[in-house]
Amino acid sequence: MNRISDEFYPMIFKRKSFHVFKDPATRKAYRDEYGIFEDELKEIQKSYDSLVPLYPGIRTAMRIAENEETSCERGQEKVLLFYSEEKPNALANIGYLAEQLDLKLASLNIGALWFGLNKKKMPDHDGLKYVIMIAIGKVPEKAFRKDMFKAKRKEMNEIWEGPLLEGVSEIIRFAPSACNSQPWKVIRKGNRLDVYRYRSDKKIGVMPQDGLVVYNHIDIGIFLCFLELCLAHQGISFHRTLFDDDRDETMNLVAGYQLNG
Ligand SMILES: Cc1cc2nc3c(=O)[nH]c(=O)nc-3n(C[C@H](O)[C@H](O)[C@H](O)COP(=O)(O)O)c2cc1C
Repeated sequence: MNRISDEFYPMIFKRKSFHVFKDPATRKAYRDEYGIFEDELKEIQKSYDSLVPLYPGIRTAMRIAENEETSCERGQEKVLLFYSEEKPNALANIGYLAEQLDLKLASLNIGALWFGLNKKKMPDHDGLKYVIMIAIGKVPEKAFRKDMFKAKRKEMNEIWEGPLLEGVSEIIRFAPSACNSQPWKVIRKGNRLDVYRYRSDKKIGVMPQDGLVVYNHIDIGIFLCFLELCLAHQGISFHRTLFDDDRDETMNLVAGYQLNG
């Protein structure tokens, strides 16, 4: 099993969502002063092929496109469009892949916004279905997150059951998710971590509940990306078992990790 590159780990602390690509102090659009270089765009496109998928058997693609192809108007420079074969677990696979790119973008001082609320009908690409997009724009380094622990997240006891795992439990809480819904729960028993997609009955944010559940499948892939980066960073090797996430219970098992210390 291939592991996600450790180079992404420090970016967990730096990344954040740029809901608008504007300096909050001056209200000036970042793109008036900054811009993504052509060779950075090439690097982003090229790096997609070296990312590690959760499900290597699912064909995916990423395309860098112009804003006009979408309804996203947050002041971004470009959009990254993600496509996949329609197969079980395709959404979690895209979440896992595209989160690696979200972290890579932070290392280039390119701000990003996962954007699920795209209203335009998106054509297929190379026989693959459109899944989701990430809006991007160059921003100054100081615009990134300074103290991740101040970001709004659920309490630890809502997302983790059993003894905490130092360097892991307190970091993975900060994975991004649609409407900040954080649809995950980890149950630890000894050296075993079971990860569940948690379906809340509460309406969260602006998305209709059914729509949110779709995005929550993507969120779970994002969470597994964070979890594996943290385990690797702590020097904890593991054996991972993936489960088809095809039910819609309150607790849906998606992955089990046997930790080897
Ligand atoms: C799958 C997904 C879809 C999202 N869709 C939107 C969106 O349509 N509009 C938006 O403003 N933010 C969107 N977000 C950003 C989340 O609101 C944000 O990640 C969450 O509030 C946590 O904040 P942070 O990313 O700054 O840590 C999305 C995030 C994810 C993971």
